[in-house]
Amino acid sequence: MKPRGVPDVAVDHTMFLPDPWLDRWLPLIRESNADAPVLEIGCGLGDDTLTLAAVGLPVTAFDLSATSVAATRLRVPAAHVECRDLRAPFPVAEATAGTVVASLTLHYFAWAETVELFDRVRRTLRPNGLFLCRLNSTADSNFGASGHPRIEANYHLVDGQPKRFFDEASIDQIFSRGWTVVSREHMVTTKYVKPKALWEIVARRRDELDAADQR
Ligand SMILES: C[S@@+](CC[C@H](N)C(=O)[O-])C[C@H]1O[C@@H](n2cnc3c(N)ncnc32)[C@H](O)[C@@H]1O
Repeated sequence: MKPRGVPDVAVDHTMFLPDPWLDRWLPLIRESNADAPVLEIGCGLGDDTLTLAAVGLPVTAFDLSATSVAATRLRVPAAHVECRDLRAPFPVAEATAGTVVASLTLHYFAWAETVELFDRVRRTLRPNGLFLCRLNSTADSNFGASGHPRIEANYHLVDGQPKRFFDEASIDQIFSRGWTVVSREHMVTTKYVKPKALWEIVARRRDELDAADQR
């Protein structure tokens, strides 16, 4: 099935089904973001880019794949879309983004690099800015959570590609400092046809450090 608004370009999108996960968060995003930039990390074919831009949010999106970037640019002309690696500096300055969105794109790295990546997302947000992400779950057995060579805990070589899976403890660890978690849910999407277990997290950048943090 072709996703909403995808033009006829040479992209294999036949394996994706609609997954409007962001819709329920749009009122919160619009209310808290105002005119600040929205950064989308790893936009793929632009499903979430389209959802965000369709309600008038100023989206800067990027992806490593030139093909995906081309498709997103055609599909969402209102968005600014770049081809870049998320390990490079983000295309939005520190402390300026009102919202950061990352759906199933933050799972390619070893733990130390993963922690640094989430910290960089936090620093990119302005104070109280909103972060919405979806992360592979350790229960995601249809897409590599079990039966693949281990690199480190919950990090496996899946069909030649390193892939991280998140459990409750790792999510707690990431969001325990500098964030206020608004929502944390374990759920299943059928976007990739087979059921895919994931975590959906919505959190705000928090700057007032606890007394214990300051010591
Ligand atoms: C599972 S797809 C998710 C795409 C989109 N967010 C969605 O939910 O439809 C993961 C995306 O991350 C991109 N990606 C992988 N490694 C990346 C990197 N180092 N920098 C930027 N994007 C990357 C891939 O090209 C792919 O589009």
